[in-house]
Amino acid sequence: MAIVYWNGDYIPLEKAVVPVEDRGFLFGDGIYEVVRVYGGRPFRLADHLQRLHRSAAGAQLPLADAVDEIPDIIQRLLDENGLRDTSFYIQCTRGCAHPRAHAFPAEVHPTLLLMHAPLRPLPANARTNGVSTITVPDLRWRRCDIKSIMLLPNAMAKTQAHDAGVFEAILVRDGLVTEGSSTNVLAVMNGTLVTHQADSDILGGISRSVVLELAAQLQLPVREEAFTVDEMYSAQELFLSSTMLEILPVTQVDGRVIGRGRPGPVTERLYEAFGKLISE
Ligand SMILES: Cc1ncc(COP(=O)(O)O)c(C=O)c1O
Repeated sequence: MAIVYWNGDYIPLEKAVVPVEDRGFLFGDGIYEVVRVYGGRPFRLADHLQRLHRSAAGAQLPLADAVDEIPDIIQRLLDENGLRDTSFYIQCTRGCAHPRAHAFPAEVHPTLLLMHAPLRPLPANARTNGVSTITVPDLRWRRCDIKSIMLLPNAMAKTQAHDAGVFEAILVRDGLVTEGSSTNVLAVMNGTLVTHQADSDILGGISRSVVLELAAQLQLPVREEAFTVDEMYSAQELFLSSTMLEILPVTQVDGRVIGRGRPGPVTERLYEAFGKLISE
């Protein structure tokens, strides 16, 4: 039975229950992180914790003191659950307040949850052939840099993708590609790696930052700038980045073939460099 951390206790997942007055449940008033663990070592944990603090500041959300102990909590959960390769879901909410009222309560009892999530297998041949995607309107709010648990528009977009028989939905705002429903989107255009600037229209992914670091090491030209849907259609290469997917080639958008219809050389070089980094 999976053991999870819930507000100071290490308990079986089934026993971890949320009171209905928790503002996370009532308002989506909370933030989260997903951290990958390779061979027993959390990858870029410091970066994830920094982003957790940034999200908390952006949402004016006081964090539980135990947030400082997250590295130890992860270690204990790895040991108790006998895990080495997994991912952790970390969630902080503003906790319970009575009666239900929109404004933030004066007294806050923040919650902290950590639970591991199994790694989901990719569709067959996704790495070798690339995945197909569709574009959908970006219906989200204007603080996408906050990793908020309010994920209904993202869930709707992903469901649209699944209903269309494709892997991911690429979000479009004012004609510009922002990101995927749970991924960042990067393109190779005229030999330059291009991705939306890390502003409040996207979540600045930790994997996106890793890819940009690797691109600098490989001396690839990089431009952090939004591109249009048409520019994306005519990209030489396109790929997604995220903690769960690492780097995943995209070979079709809206039924149009991208580049040569197979993972491109820049994507492959970056994926290889990413693999070396996680095995270091
Ligand atoms: C909307 C969105 N963009 C980008 C990402 C990728 O971020 P990261 O690389 O930190 O996993 C995620 C991950 O969940 C996401 O939900």
